[in-house]
Amino acid sequence: MILLHVDPARVDPRALEQAARVLRQGGLVAFPTETVYGLGAHALDPDAVQRIYHAKGRPGYNPLIVHVADAAAARALVADFPAQAERLAEAFWPGPLTLVLPKHDSIPDSVTAGLPTVALRVPAHPVAQALLRAAGIPVAAPSANRSTEVSPTTAQHVVRSLGERVDVIVDGGPCPVGIESTVLSLAGPRPTLLRPGTISVDDLRAVIGDVALPSVEPAADAARPSPGMLDRHYAPRGIVRIVPPSQRARMLAAAAAEVDGRRRIGGLMMMPVDDPRIAPVVRMPRHPAEYASRLYAALHELDDAGCDVILIDEPPGASAWAGVRDRLRRAATEAPSSSPEAGARP
Ligand code: TXA
Ligand code: MG
Repeated sequence: MILLHVDPARVDPRALEQAARVLRQGGLVAFPTETVYGLGAHALDPDAVQRIYHAKGRPGYNPLIVHVADAAAARALVADFPAQAERLAEAFWPGPLTLVLPKHDSIPDSVTAGLPTVALRVPAHPVAQALLRAAGIPVAAPSANRSTEVSPTTAQHVVRSLGERVDVIVDGGPCPVGIESTVLSLAGPRPTLLRPGTISVDDLRAVIGDVALPSVEPAADAARPSPGMLDRHYAPRGIVRIVPPSQRARMLAAAAAEVDGRRRIGGLMMMPVDDPRIAPVVRMPRHPAEYASRLYAALHELDDAGCDVILIDEPPGASAWAGVRDRLRRAATEAPSSSPEAGARP
């Protein structure tokens, strides 16, 4: 594995030529976007795409996002780019918005998991932009972590999760947005939000009017509009417990009483924790964008500290917090194989 350092403030396109060549030749390149690090491969090369699924241990029914440098390149990959897509691209690209549209025949089935649609994104990060332009091909890229784990927001997170499974890791520093892009489907009768992110549903409605929301808690066996909405995702190794404000005193006291020589209970808190038995505690900002930007690094930190349980102050319900709330809800979902007993470690 080759680790390349690129300063996002002064990107030298020549520094990315090697990574671009690896992509064109079918290899795997992890690179920074403004949301999280992506694990990229040539989107029109089925063997290259297969390597992504293999490296991540990702189920084949979860489709990938295709990254391109601009809206013109996106138009070439779809059967139809409707007026709503034009308006959204104008408003939010490059940026943390992914659009699901009817796919062009050139997109392999492995990218879309057999769906007739493709997810497209134009990242704003200067390193991602330079890499996509140097490569000159569409790049399929999920988050650069093993399936179900916490997404990477630094190159070190990628090294630890995927290491030698990747040919090149481009280190462009920490990702400023910090949670994955908002995913919006324009392939059905109504524009439908498939995954909340820092571009909120109110932001989308301001541009195209109507946007439908997915049901908040899909039944386990319900057909999902986005196959990748697996319940457990973005999950640290420790058990996550969300702490509503009304139950905070009781839950903190109960958790502190569980601490002994073997169990470590940490926190990701917006308010102070007075009990020293709960440690380490990462203090989180009260602004949703700042919170998102730090979320995954904080979860990685608490995992690295060996926390068996992670207490997380429940964020406010306002729409600006929807992306953060979604990731926390999934992080708190226990693995299917784990004991149903509350607090059991998977
Ligand atoms: O910010 C991001 O979106 C990051 C960076 C690397 O771009 N990528 C990312 O990819 O989060 P991934 O694979 O972790 O998540 C892709 C999401 C999944 O929920 C997947 O199911 C959905 O997009 N998706 C992809 N193609 C789709 C399609 N054709 N129809 C519906 N959902 C789709
Ligand atoms: Mg992911």
